[in-house]
Amino acid sequence: MSSVDLVSEGKKERLVIRGGEPLKGVLTAQGAKNAALPIMASALLLRGGRLTIERVPDLQDIHTMMDLLDHLGVKVEMKDHRMTLDVPEEISWETPASLVRKMRASSLVLGPLVARCGRAVLPLPGGCAIGSRPIDFHVKGLAKMGTSFELVQGAFHGRTSGLKPARIYLDFPSVGATENLMMAASLVEGETILENAAREPEVVNLAETLRAMGVEIEGEGSGTIKIRGAKELKDAHVSVIPDRIEASTYLLAGVITGGKVTVRQIVPEHIEALCSKLEEAGISVEIKGDDVTVYPSGRYRGVSLKTLPYPGFPTDLQPQIMAAMCLAEGTSVIHESVFESRFLHVSEFKRMGAQVDLQGNTAIVTGVSKLVGAEVHASDLRAGAALVLMGLAAEDETVVCDLEHIWRGYEGIVEKLRALGGKVIVTRGE
Ligand code: UD1
Repeated sequence: MSSVDLVSEGKKERLVIRGGEPLKGVLTAQGAKNAALPIMASALLLRGGRLTIERVPDLQDIHTMMDLLDHLGVKVEMKDHRMTLDVPEEISWETPASLVRKMRASSLVLGPLVARCGRAVLPLPGGCAIGSRPIDFHVKGLAKMGTSFELVQGAFHGRTSGLKPARIYLDFPSVGATENLMMAASLVEGETILENAAREPEVVNLAETLRAMGVEIEGEGSGTIKIRGAKELKDAHVSVIPDRIEASTYLLAGVITGGKVTVRQIVPEHIEALCSKLEEAGISVEIKGDDVTVYPSGRYRGVSLKTLPYPGFPTDLQPQIMAAMCLAEGTSVIHESVFESRFLHVSEFKRMGAQVDLQGNTAIVTGVSKLVGAEVHASDLRAGAALVLMGLAAEDETVVCDLEHIWRGYEGIVEKLRALGGKVIVTRGE
């Protein structure tokens, strides 16, 4: 049974971990959630057509996007990680608050809808545990392309009589804004230029998809992306890149428990920031083709880092590396520069014996020689993953609550950890 199958309404699920054993073994990375979501949204650009996507991870967030696209009129099917999206000539442009509130990445349909339908209604995605997360860059960019926006009853209503090409400078290299604007520009004849664009591998994966649909696009992976769209796009068949955050989380499971873990079928270049920090900490990292192995030996050293847009150290890995640094020798200074409040895991870490001092957006972690089990709560997806890592390393039993966050991003996490020798079970209670 997969972890997602274990979700049952009204029953609170908990992950019970018996820690202290080194994890050892080999596993394969899932397809990247954050690449699959925008690629799915890009199907909306087809006026009657089919997008086929390979290596789609079977996750809660993917199902939320499937429901959203289904609501808009797209026929979505998924089997064995292959997804087909059949898009009719006519689609709806109004997104329901119930789905948008569930997942911030729902805002990725805004650009495609405005470009395709000339209008869109998107309820404000709202804040989340890691900060307020506005979508002002998305809206400003689309406005520059000729969309007018009105806020009515907590929802953005966008309208255009036809998007035009534009030169758009993003105040921050926002991943979602870059993706939304790339998709909107894909149906616009003429050249749109995005400056200070996000350089994440997931943005490159979206560019490859748009190119397969017939869009001329260059510069993806750099700070300047040029898009020449077309009125009609064609069917495409694409594949999702490996999930660098999921893969890194399992490598860190090896590190924190002192075991040798190999993650297969990833793009090692995508996790260079992590590998270089691990080497700095004294951990051996071996790269063979698409496989990466960590070989911890004894206690590793604390390292300092700052989260940054790609190719900098990913914010989505900050809680997990902090977990590992809790057991390092010496002090680590971890500065979060992408999100305003992404340290909710710290209070839970402390319950397990970690020594972390928070000063604004900086965490000073003093390594301890052991962690102890406790009942802890996942405040968001990556915080949840980090607590699982802590539990795997801690003495005796750890119980992680609020697992719904973890199901959003890690397919089969229970099975994968068990395959590495982790003693983990899911229990359900009231
Ligand atoms: C994506 C990822 C998320 C990751 C984040 C940063 C997906 C589905 N999610 O989120 O896992 O943590 O990139 O790597 O791909 N901002 C604004 N105004 C905007 C947009 C963003 O102020 O209009 C701010 C955000 O509040 C945040 C920063 O910019 O502080 C980065 O956000 P962004 O890169 O847009 O993240 P997402 O695309 O939401």
